Parts: sequence; structure tokens; C-alpha cells
Amino acid sequence: MGLIAYFRRPRRKRAKASFEERPSGGPATLAHRDPKSWGLAFLAALVLLAGCTSFKRLAYEGFGRDGWQKPDEVVAALALRAGDRVADLGSGGGYFTFRFSKAVGPTGKVYAVDVDRDMLDYIGARAKEDGHPNIETVLAKYDDPLLPESVDLIFTCNVYHHIEGRVEYFASAARYLRPGGRIAIVDFDGRHWTAILGHTTPVEVVKKEMQEAGYRLERELDFLDRQAFLVYSRR
Ligand SMILES: C[S@@+](CC[C@H](N)C(=O)[O-])C[C@H]1O[C@@H](n2cnc3c(N)ncnc32)[C@H](O)[C@@H]1O
Repeated sequence: MGLIAYFRRPRRKRAKASFEERPSGGPATLAHRDPKSWGLAFLAALVLLAGCTSFKRLAYEGFGRDGWQKPDEVVAALALRAGDRVADLGSGGGYFTFRFSKAVGPTGKVYAVDVDRDMLDYIGARAKEDGHPNIETVLAKYDDPLLPESVDLIFTCNVYHHIEGRVEYFASAARYLRPGGRIAIVDFDGRHWTAILGHTTPVEVVKKEMQEAGYRLERELDFLDRQAFLVYSRR
């Protein structure tokens, strides 16, 4: 049983189980010995969970990402205006979320959208701490970003290859775009050696699928050395 499931079990049942499951005459386990050990276990779980978020951020952002990701150039290329509404779809640790927050300013809005509640909690806490009141987190469904309003830009970086049923997903996501709204897709395209890990989508596949989903390719930017960068509008 997973830790979270264990701690969610009703309290009485847990206590009962800890006595009943003890082998008669056998040595007391940590759980049987001392209520303090529950505290320790809980603390260990918290440390593990916090570590997990940091680990995920490290996996998504790595070391020296700015060098190849060129985030300032990416954001500049999107030509966001003060007051724009942006959805950072698959926001992860917020690598782009916080940059968008600056770009759209206090009158704008950035939705950090992800299916991973831990990462959203991290972004929410950091947004509060660092003073980004224009960031709102949204717990998405795998097949629906569940945005609370329509936006000027849906942006996704290193997420496209994670999404299943992409033609249906993006066809249906059109309802979240304001008139003139755009979808920007940045994804690993297989040029870099890290492609052996499989987290890529050939650019021709993105183009074919987005066309089928009802979008027109507005711009194809080529300043990233390992990712395609495509900007779409509704046909
Ligand atoms: C590789 S990370 C990229 C994070 C961030 N965009 C960045 O560039 O650092 C992929 C993220 O997409 C999220 N994700 C995967 N499938 C998703 C879906 N269907 N809807 C929303 N988020 C999704 C994952 O939970 C993860 O946080």
C-alpha cells in the first residue's frame, strides 16, 4: 500500500491493524513501538514528497537549460502584450510561467496548467512568495486543460509528446482561445542526443496533427537547436 493511501485509512482501523498484524511474541516493529514513530514516518513522507518536487523540477529544468532553451528569446518571439491572458499548458516547475507573468504584467493573467498537483502547489507557493499575483494554478484533466476562461495564448513546452489523442485534444482546446488567439508548441524534435530517451515529436507529425485539429501554421521559428517552435492560429 502506498504511503498516501495508508495515511488516508480511517484512524481506528489503522491503530487496530497495527496491533492485530503484529506477530504474537514477535519483535515490535517501529510502528508498534511508539506513537512518536508515526510522527517520524509522517516527517519522512513529507521530506520524500518535497524531495520529489525538487527532483521533478531538476528533471524538467536540469542544469544550464537557459543556454539552449533561450527563454527570453522564446518569450520575446511570442510578442505578448500587457494584459494578455496566457495558459502555460503542462507548466511543470513554472520555468515559463514566471517569465510570462512578467511579460503580461499586473493587468494580465497566467494560468499554470498541469495534471500534477504537487508541481502546481510548488508554483502557487512560489508565486505568493515572489509576488506574482497574476498567476493562477489550474489542475487539468489529461484530456482537457479545464481553463476557467478563454486566453490569448496557449503555450506548451516539452509537453506535446506527453499528450494522448492530440488531434482531438487540440481541436477541442480551440474553445479556450479568444478571437485571434494562438497556440505555441515547443517540443523536442529528435535533433539532440537526448532523443534516445524518447521524449520527442518529429516536427512533421506536429504539423500534420495540428492541421487535422483545425489550425493554421503562422510561424516556424528556428533559433532553438533541439526543439521545434511552432505558432498556430485557428483556421
Ligand atoms: C517535461 S515537463 C515540462 C514542464 C515545463 N513546460 C517546462 O518546460 O519546464 C511536462 C509537464 O507536462 C505535464 N503534463 C503531461 N501531460 C499533461 C496533460 N495532458 N495536461 C497537462 N499537463 C500535462 C506533466 O505533469 C509535466 O509537468
